[in-house]
Amino acid sequence: MFEFTEENQKRFLEILTRYPNKLAAMLPALWLAQKQHGWLSPEVMEYVAGLIEVSPAKVYEVATFYTMFNKKPVGKYHFQVCRTLSCQLNGAEKITECLKKKLGLNLGGTSEDGRYTLTEVECLGSCGTAPMLQLNDDYHENLTEEALDQLIESLD
Ligand code: FES
Repeated sequence: MFEFTEENQKRFLEILTRYPNKLAAMLPALWLAQKQHGWLSPEVMEYVAGLIEVSPAKVYEVATFYTMFNKKPVGKYHFQVCRTLSCQLNGAEKITECLKKKLGLNLGGTSEDGRYTLTEVECLGSCGTAPMLQLNDDYHENLTEEALDQLIESLD
């Protein structure tokens, strides 16, 4: 059964103080849950729904709207390639194709060993340094094929 760790329970209570009501705290609560669990399973969404006192369907509706929420388990290294206009015009498609080959994955796929996941996402707010991707919590910008090689080699 999923529940927040003691530390995240405290964080959640602190989050609540920043919002006018529990419903308004849904996104940060989901983010915290994903940080802890790695993805938003139905059980996790149900837990968050209980905390903020809304129906699980409402939480599911919100979670499925945002690409930043993982609706299935992701690998240790989650590559999220931005596919929105600025990145698209600066070669995002090439970056995605390159990663598909290097990681041996299709979009939305996770390697069998659980090491890599590759997804495309909408604008990550770093349009001036396109093309870019987010790898776990970090941005990698002005990408080239060589930069991708170096990035993959640098992973432990
Ligand atoms: S278009 Fe890619 S970061 Fe904005």
